[in-house]
Amino acid sequence: MRLPADARSIDHAARLLREGSTVAFPTETVYGLGADAASQAGVAAIYRIKGRPAGHPLIVHVLDAAQAAWWAELDDRAQRLAAAFWPGPLTLILPRRAGAPAWACGRETTIGVRAPAHPVARALLAAFTALGGQGIAGPSANRFGKVSPTRAAHVVDDLGDSVPLVLDGGECEVGLESTIVDLSRPVAVLLRPGGADAAAIERVLGVALAVHEAGDTQAPRASGTLAAHYAPRTPLELVEPGDLAARAREWLAGGRTVAVWSVRAPLAEPAPGLRWLAAPAEPVAFGHALYDTLRSLDALQADRILVERPPAGRPWEAVRDRLGRAAATFTESAP
Ligand code: TXA
Ligand code: MG
Repeated sequence: MRLPADARSIDHAARLLREGSTVAFPTETVYGLGADAASQAGVAAIYRIKGRPAGHPLIVHVLDAAQAAWWAELDDRAQRLAAAFWPGPLTLILPRRAGAPAWACGRETTIGVRAPAHPVARALLAAFTALGGQGIAGPSANRFGKVSPTRAAHVVDDLGDSVPLVLDGGECEVGLESTIVDLSRPVAVLLRPGGADAAAIERVLGVALAVHEAGDTQAPRASGTLAAHYAPRTPLELVEPGDLAARAREWLAGGRTVAVWSVRAPLAEPAPGLRWLAAPAEPVAFGHALYDTLRSLDALQADRILVERPPAGRPWEAVRDRLGRAAATFTESAP
C-alpha cells in the first residue's frame, strides 16, 4: 500500500517496523526498504524482497551520532564527520560495537551507519525510537542490481505488493545514494562516491581519502562496488560527446531505434527512430535526474541507449561511477 507520508502513516510505519515488518520510506538520496535492524525476521524480509544475496551488508539508519554509538565505535574521525555531515548523505563504515545485533552486517565485523536528512525519514526514526527501536536497516528499495528508486512510484513498480507500506514523500532531492567512507581501518577509504562531496570530507578529515580498489581483498564487500549494478534493461552505451552524432546515425541507419541522453541534441534534424532527452550540464542537477531518466530511457524500449559521457573531475565522480556500472553489462556491438 502506498500512502502519503503524514503523522498517521508515519506512526503506522513505525509500528510495522517494530513488529518485524518492512516499510519503504523516502530519504534525501533514494528510497530505502526499511526494517528494524535489531530484528532477525525484519532484516531477513529485506533480503527476500530485494533478492539481495546473503552476506551483502545493509546500512543502518539512525537519528544522530548518539544513536549510531549504540551500534558502532565512533573514533575521533567519525565524530568529526558526523558533526559536519549528519544528518545527510554520508554513510560511515565503523567497527560494530560488541553486543550490537549483527543481522544487518552480513559477515562483517563492521557496520554501516547513516543519519538521513529527509524530514520523513527523520520523523519515522523519531517515531520508531519512541517505540524502543534503535536503528532502521535500509538498502535502496529496488530489486538487487537494478536502478535505485527516487520516487514512491518507482518502488511500487519494482517491488509491487511485497512491501506492506510505501511512504510517499515525493521526489528525492539528491537522487544518488550516500557517499560511503570506510573508517574501520586506520586509512579512510572512499568505498562509494555519492551525495556528500568527497573533497569536503577530506577537508574535515585533514587527509586524502584512499580509493577503493577492485582487487582489494581486505576491503568489505559492497554491492554498490560490483561492476554491473544500477543497470536498465536496454543496453546502455557511454559515448564521448564528439562521437555522439556519428554513433546515433550508425544505429539509425540500421533501421533501429535509439534513445539519447545528452546536453545538446545529437543531430541537427529530427530523425525517425531517434528519441532525445536533454541532460543537465551541471553535476548536482545531473545526479538528481539520473535514475529517473534511466527509467524513462528504458521505458522507450529503444534498441540502444546512448548517454553522453560526463566530464572528468571530482564533482562528476558519483555520476560517472553510476553510469559506468549501468553500462557495464553492455558489450560492443555493431548496429
Ligand atoms: O543513500 C543510501 O545510502 C541509500 C539510502 C536508502 O540510505 N541506501 C543504500 O543502500 O544505497 P544499499 O544497500 O543499496 O547500499 C549500501 C552499500 C552496499 O554497497 C553495502 O554493501 C555497503 O553499503 N555496506 C553496508 N554496510 C557495510 C559494511 N559493514 N561494510 C562494507 N560495506 C557496507
Ligand atoms: Mg542499492
